Amino acid sequence: MTSLLERDARAIAGIEKLRFFPLEVVSGRGAVLYDPAGRELVDLSATWTASGLGHGHPALVEAVAAAVRTAPGSGGLSAIHPDSVGLAEDLLDLVPGGGERRVYLGHAGSDANDVALRACRNASGRRTVVAFEHGYHGGLGSAMGVSGQQVDAGHTADPDVVFVPYPNPFRPGPGGLMADVTASLAAIEAALSGGSGGGAACLIVEPILADGGLVVPPDGFLRRVHDLCVAAGVPLICDEVKMGLARPGTLHAFEHDGVVPEIVTFGKAIGGGLPLSATVGPAAILDHPAGSALLTTAGNPVSTAAGRAVLRTLVTEDLAARADTAGRRFRSLLGRIADGHGADGGRSAERIGDVRGRGLAIGVELVRDRDSGTPDPTLAQKVVYRAWQLGAVVYYVGGNVLEITPPLVIADAEIDRAADILDHAISDAIGGRVSDEEVRPYAGW
Ligand SMILES: Cc1ncc(COP(=O)(O)O)c(C=O)c1O
Repeated sequence: MTSLLERDARAIAGIEKLRFFPLEVVSGRGAVLYDPAGRELVDLSATWTASGLGHGHPALVEAVAAAVRTAPGSGGLSAIHPDSVGLAEDLLDLVPGGGERRVYLGHAGSDANDVALRACRNASGRRTVVAFEHGYHGGLGSAMGVSGQQVDAGHTADPDVVFVPYPNPFRPGPGGLMADVTASLAAIEAALSGGSGGGAACLIVEPILADGGLVVPPDGFLRRVHDLCVAAGVPLICDEVKMGLARPGTLHAFEHDGVVPEIVTFGKAIGGGLPLSATVGPAAILDHPAGSALLTTAGNPVSTAAGRAVLRTLVTEDLAARADTAGRRFRSLLGRIADGHGADGGRSAERIGDVRGRGLAIGVELVRDRDSGTPDPTLAQKVVYRAWQLGAVVYYVGGNVLEITPPLVIADAEIDRAADILDHAISDAIGGRVSDEEVRPYAGW
């Protein structure tokens, strides 16, 4: 019989695949995934954070089942539905901000960012967008054009984007992978007032740089960026698509620095796995020109019912507090491995350059050795492969950083088990238990 793996290879377009090992999944519950043979895997990705509430959360199941049974069509384009209006109102309540604001409802982080960027350009008449090297804002349109991290090698960057460095406390200084905070802020200040139209239309930033390597900027960085934006009269778009909605230990990642961004974009977790995204910002920017961002099924009753259930659950179950506590536990277990108390003592420790994160957004940077800190992408490929063999799903970002973003409902016992698996996966990968041939088909991201 043809395996699922073979059928996938024959049927699904390579253009939409980002694979790290031959993962087949048929169901999930909480923070656990099940493969076709019934094997349990601890989920340390949560579908790149889209399954933030965990798999099969009862609140989501009930909301979606009820909505799909009675949905009067599919979309907010030409009709008004209580759940699309309700979701927009929920977001206006939950996202701090002043003045008259509006909400765009979309399908994915990519269109939420694309709409935010286009609306800022339309409203200001300016073209320049300030964005960050190694940032990722989407795989389509202007969101792709201003992404420093390009998924399509044939695609060229937006002609009017100015990339500035994101500060990386683990690799500071000129000549490093990224700049220190002073260099970054100086570049931002220059970029905000530069460009052809006498200044920038907007600045877009990830509060924690996710796909670029799970880089947590120094405390206060976002505040200083926002101060520069305010001084230059340029709106700041805070891209909370991946790191927002309780994951960092606060409902919004920008809260860490006490910032109130002009525009906030959401995706992934807001839909609980269904396609849903949102852009929250000033009416003066998001109302004009009317009818300039049209997707037929945007704001549909099923996705918006899911979004309302997700937001309600995040608040009633106080999942931000849970993410904070669980994240501390996870980071302390990983810190012990990095300190030489892992399965094989100092051998693994020598290859862990850094353990960092906020809440349940954790990065483990793998290096050739601690002295040089040279990134080790091959080790990252082998560690995630070995972790899958041992029973955990974890991916890497920025070439060499394990990205640990489990469902927010992960239990303490699951965290302990996952840390143990990662410990053994690192030591097995270093010890040659994964061959170059095994990981070759998955190299490259
Ligand atoms: C920070 C950030 N913004 C936007 C996106 C794009 O979201 P989507 O893939 O849902 O279009 C991503 C996806 O990884 C992301 O990490």
